[in-house]
Order: sequence, then C-alpha cells, then structure tokens
Amino acid sequence: MAARQASLVDLLSDEAVNDPTTYFNRVRDEGPVFWNQRWNGWIVTRHSDVAAGFRNHEQLSSDRFAGPFAEDILESKTKYTQLIEFMSKWMFTSDRPYHTHLRSLVNVAFTPRSVEVLRPRVRELVHSLAEPLRERDRVNFLAEFAFTLPVIVIAEYLGVPAEARQQVREWSEHLGAVVFVAGDNPDRFVTAEKAMNNLVDLIRPIVRARAVEPKDDLISAMVNADVDGDRFTEEEIIANAVLMVFAGHETTMNLLSNATVLFHRFPDTWHRMSEDPRLARTAVEEVLRYDGPIKALARWATEPFEMGGKRIQRNDRVLLVQHAANHDPAFFENPERFDPARWPNKHLGFGQGIHTCLGGPLARLEAQEALTYLSREFASIEVLTQELTYNRTLVSRGLRELDVRFHQR
Ligand code: HEM
Repeated sequence: MAARQASLVDLLSDEAVNDPTTYFNRVRDEGPVFWNQRWNGWIVTRHSDVAAGFRNHEQLSSDRFAGPFAEDILESKTKYTQLIEFMSKWMFTSDRPYHTHLRSLVNVAFTPRSVEVLRPRVRELVHSLAEPLRERDRVNFLAEFAFTLPVIVIAEYLGVPAEARQQVREWSEHLGAVVFVAGDNPDRFVTAEKAMNNLVDLIRPIVRARAVEPKDDLISAMVNADVDGDRFTEEEIIANAVLMVFAGHETTMNLLSNATVLFHRFPDTWHRMSEDPRLARTAVEEVLRYDGPIKALARWATEPFEMGGKRIQRNDRVLLVQHAANHDPAFFENPERFDPARWPNKHLGFGQGIHTCLGGPLARLEAQEALTYLSREFASIEVLTQELTYNRTLVSRGLRELDVRFHQR
C-alpha cells in the first residue's frame, strides 16, 4: 500500500505526464479526494466531485494572488511587476465580484453569434493551410497546421495583426510556463515577465486606436462595452486581450493535435467520420473528453468544508483533475472506448460554473471545421513521430512534437 501510494506522489512523473489516464485512475483507486504530499494539496478525480468543485465559488478560489498560490508568485512581486499587474486583471484568475465585472463586459462582445459568423473564414483558412501539405512526406503538424489556424483566427477576431504570430507563439509559451505550471522550467517567471511586456506593447496601441476609431473586431467591442454604466478600463482590456491571445491558441492547437493522435490510434473512427461528416460535432466533444488540452486546474479553499468524505481546511490547495473526471467509470459508460458518436457527453474539458471557458464555442468551431475537412480530403493522417512525448506540466496536455503524413484518398 505504502509503495503503491509512493509511486503516485510525483504529479509530473513520466507516467503522470505521458499516460495521465492510467496514472489518475490509480490515484482515484487510492481515494477520490487524495492528499498529495509533494504538491501539498488535494487531488480530486471523481466526475461528481470535480464538477462540484468547479461550481463551488464560495469555498474554492481561483485568485492566484491570494491564499497559498500567492507565496510562489508574490515573493517575487517587485521583480515581475507587469506580469502580476496584468495577470491579476484576468478573469481566469479572479473571483466574484471582480470576475462578474470582467466576464459580463466581455460577454457583451464575445457572443456565440459573433463566433458563428467566423465559420466561413475558418473553413477557408483550414482549406488554405491544409492544401499545401497534401504532397508532403513529412509535415510538422503543430507548426504548420495546429498552431497556425487558431493563432490567425484569434488574432483576426480580436483585431491584432496576425503577422506577429511567431513572436506571439513564443511569448504565449512563456506565459504558459507560469500558468500551466511547467515544473521543469525554473526561469519561467523571468521569461514570462518579458513576454507580458511584449504582449502589452503589441496590444496597447491597438486598444488606443480602437477607442478613437472602432472597427468590427473584439477589441473595439470591448472598448465600447457598457453594462448599466459599468465599463472596462484600458488596462483590463489589454490584460484580457492578452489572456485571449494566450488561451485562444495553445489549447486549440493541443485539441487538434490530440485529435489527430486519437484518430490514428483508432483508425475506424476516421473512416466513420468521413462517411458521415455530421459526426464532427460529437467527435470534437469526445476528443475533449478522452484527451482534452486541459488536464487539471487548481483552486484553494477559502474556508473549511467537506469534499468526497475529506475535511478540506482553509488555505488547502485543491487540484480538480478534469482528465480523471472524464475517464470516471462511475459517470461514463465504457470510458476507455473512444466513440466519436458518444452523446450525451458531459465532459469537463471546458470546466463549469462562472469560469466556464469563454472560447469554447470558438475552439469547437475550429476543430469541427478542421475535422470535417481533413476527414473528407484524406484517407488517413499517419503519425510519424516514433515516441510521443508531452509537455511536463500540471495543467495542460500537449505534445512536444507531432510529425505526420497525410494520405490521399
Ligand atoms: C480546446 C480549447 C480550449 C480548452 C480545452 C479550454 C479550456 C478552458 C477551461 C477548462 C477553462 C476554465 C478555467 C477555470 O475554471 O479555471 C477556460 C477558461 C477560459 N478560456 Fe478556454 N479553453 C479552450 C479554448 C479557448 C479559446 C479559443 C479561448 C479564446 C478566447 C479561450 C479563452 C478562455 C478564457 C478567457 C477563460 C477564462 C474564463 C473565465 O475565467 O471566466 N479558451 N478554458
């Protein structure tokens, strides 16, 4: 028993990073709310508890600048001023009532309808990015497709120049090392501070220009958003535009690449989708469930409460493991079966409650269009990378490399 538990202590072990399903199933077997000594917090793995955790806004906080997270971040406050100033204005890291102020204003601008309008453009982009890859022996899927599509889409939607995308990718990766808790990168705060400076310098002039002359883009809509007299400050628009640039492509890139690996592993599902393109919608949900881009998200307790039969104390850290919830046999029938037609599919890939992913409709749209097009045009996508390795982070589930070959019909 002790040896078995000891093998679970490292949340960034090879097994935890490369095979999270097996690892977190083992954690759930030990206890659905399980104390992890090394991380110094609770690991929550049942669907019912993870969903309840996401909706428990009274006792579980997202504010990384208060409570126990703050020790890591704020001890270096003087060194990383820009990073902390702008991240503390992100809706992702704030609690009510500040979160309500930010999210209600952004909801005025970022609506399902304004996303749906982008569909023809996304379709065109999928086509223009995939066509040149047709005749190639080896394609770097991350760089040449999975990253490029979402970064162009979010840049155009916001109104930020897409030409800066290579730099934006690098800066976002540096922010990601902090947000996704990349345990193998000790310099992550230094590079993230520089990245935040660069992203702010890119976005601030655009916010100022839109205040004078609005255009048909999200930044203009944020500048003009007004909910009963409540408005964004300039700093809040910049902060949340940076958040969207960052959140808007890394995750979607990982959705597209994780999908590619799954269809390669279960080739008959690719065939089914090409026969019936309507499956793309449910298939995207199944990829989010089976191997979604976000594995787990952290919260901290603002007061004592019970969870899964355990007493959570004030200031305890709590890791809500979506990946485990999405493979919970008590909730999903036959969870290890990858079924692109699975419905209903109440996965937790986009979270729940007030922080439910803002960009869910956009990520879905991009993935649906990509899968529809690729499964219609190509007999298969062969994965050429011999050994798939994943980024060593607590939060995200993304491949380091993915080389593929598109096989013609
Ligand atoms: C497949 C791709 C994506 C996944 C799996 C994903 C996942 C998530 C999850 C799980 C949350 C909840 C965070 C929490 O509860 O702490 C979240 C929040 C958020 N996501 Fe996404 N996301 C994706 C794509 C996007 C895109 C394309 C955007 C572009 C705008 C975006 C913007 C955001 C924002 C702004 C929040 C914070 C919302 C809030 O705190 O109110 N995401 N995302």
